[in-house]
Amino acid sequence: MSWRFSGAKPIMVESVKPYQFGLRLSERGYVAGIGDGIAWIRGLPTARLDELIGFDDGSTGLVFQLGREVLGAILLSQNRGVTAGMAVQHIGRKLEVGVGDTLLGRVVDPLGSPLDGLPPPELRQFRSLEAAAPPIIERDFVSEPLYTGCKIVDTLIPIGKGQRQLIIGDDGIGKSALALDAVLNQRGRNVLCVMVLIGQPRSSVAGTIEALRQVDALAYTVVVVAEANALPGFRYLAPFAGCAIAEHWMRMGRDTLVVYDDLTRHAQSYRELSLLLQRPPGREAYPGDIFYLHSRLLERSTVLSSAYGGGSMTALPIIETRQGELSAYIPTNLISITDGQIYLESKLFAAGMLPAIDIGRSVSRIGGKAQHPAIKTASAHIRLDYLQFLELELFARFGTRLEAGVEEKLQRGRLLREILKQDRLQPLSERAHLAWLLAYGEGLLENLKPEQAAGVLAELLAKLPDTLTLESPKKQWLSVLRQLLADKA
Ligand SMILES: Nc1ncnc2c1ncn2[C@@H]1O[C@H](COP(=O)(O)OP(=O)(O)O)[C@@H](O)[C@H]1O
Ligand SMILES: [Mg+2]
Repeated sequence: MSWRFSGAKPIMVESVKPYQFGLRLSERGYVAGIGDGIAWIRGLPTARLDELIGFDDGSTGLVFQLGREVLGAILLSQNRGVTAGMAVQHIGRKLEVGVGDTLLGRVVDPLGSPLDGLPPPELRQFRSLEAAAPPIIERDFVSEPLYTGCKIVDTLIPIGKGQRQLIIGDDGIGKSALALDAVLNQRGRNVLCVMVLIGQPRSSVAGTIEALRQVDALAYTVVVVAEANALPGFRYLAPFAGCAIAEHWMRMGRDTLVVYDDLTRHAQSYRELSLLLQRPPGREAYPGDIFYLHSRLLERSTVLSSAYGGGSMTALPIIETRQGELSAYIPTNLISITDGQIYLESKLFAAGMLPAIDIGRSVSRIGGKAQHPAIKTASAHIRLDYLQFLELELFARFGTRLEAGVEEKLQRGRLLREILKQDRLQPLSERAHLAWLLAYGEGLLENLKPEQAAGVLAELLAKLPDTLTLESPKKQWLSVLRQLLADKA
């Protein structure tokens, strides 16, 4: 024991030496009012925006609004311990979330606390929730495809790594399902995923997590959840937390995919906070900086140039519309911020055309540049053919007399429609995409009845030899496809 004492003494003296007696000022404020996840605070004149403050019962808050005498803070603790008159002080830190590989497979809240009943993830690195988007010099062009496994998306509305692609449509027509399928399709592709679930009821949160678990997708995924009944502050912070988690991996040179499900609820949470904090409401009662809210979030998704590690963050924000109204405030904002949108249409959903993607109104502004040349060439005419068919079909419905050849075109279009249908949780590989594109494009499926299409196609894809790759010459592809389809056509 004695050596410890003799050793400890000089250290103690050393550590006390720099201590200087003197007058130090520290601010103590107090809670002037509280309610709805918001606290009004007086007496912290040097508080700054986005700074953390601590209440005497151990709760924390985030400074969100500065006034001349009072400041507004959003509460970051669910307990009801904070009361009026309670003392408040600076913590001297900004809001950060733990990041790193130990988060994989976990379900956490926006502050990184576990929601899955397991012990807290061991985290050594932290990142600020709010961060500036990478400057132009650090960025690169989108040049690699990100495969979602969805026939329509990967061929006609392709997404590239680092792209921001909006998924938009009414309630209950497969937006979340499409995003979830995209995450499931990243298995074995070395893309880390972050699913941000904002304002959803617990049942659908549980459903999403269960789906991820069933196909082993949790191994490379983090789920950040702020449920519908969480504090508005949590719902507001969730996408920024998810973004920071992905940003860490992007900075390490990894490819990431972030799903924000959904930003309509996020905007509503922000509106709720803003109204509670008495900010002046603007259009649809949203505060004036609602555009900035989403643009600063989505600007952080990009692909970094190789000098900066070459990582990427692809974003799939989801927006829910009412009765297909694309020109409402939040949808138009998001459409202008993102690099394209996948528009889901409730009429198509009702007609059983699943996934219910409206090909005419969906667009990808940059993904085409990242598409594999083989798939790009093979799918070049499909979009136009399909849109022409839809128009023709509408026309034919009036019982007009049709010229020769039109019936043939209709037949081909109906077949294509059947081919484009796809069930949930059945992602297709790139080879499979090329196979169906070539088989259809070269007329190898010509004599099939639409109702036969699904069966024949499934059989074809199952028999596809491993020797065929996207790099194989078209001739080789066609000869194999002809052989496989010999007895069908
Ligand atoms: N491709 C599909 N095939 C079959 N069912 C689908 C498909 N896409 C979505 N669904 C079903 O549609 C319903 C609504 O989907 P969901 O993704 O929750 O909609 P949203 O997110 O738009 O509200 C779910 O029951 C889902 O199983
Ligand atoms: Mg949904």
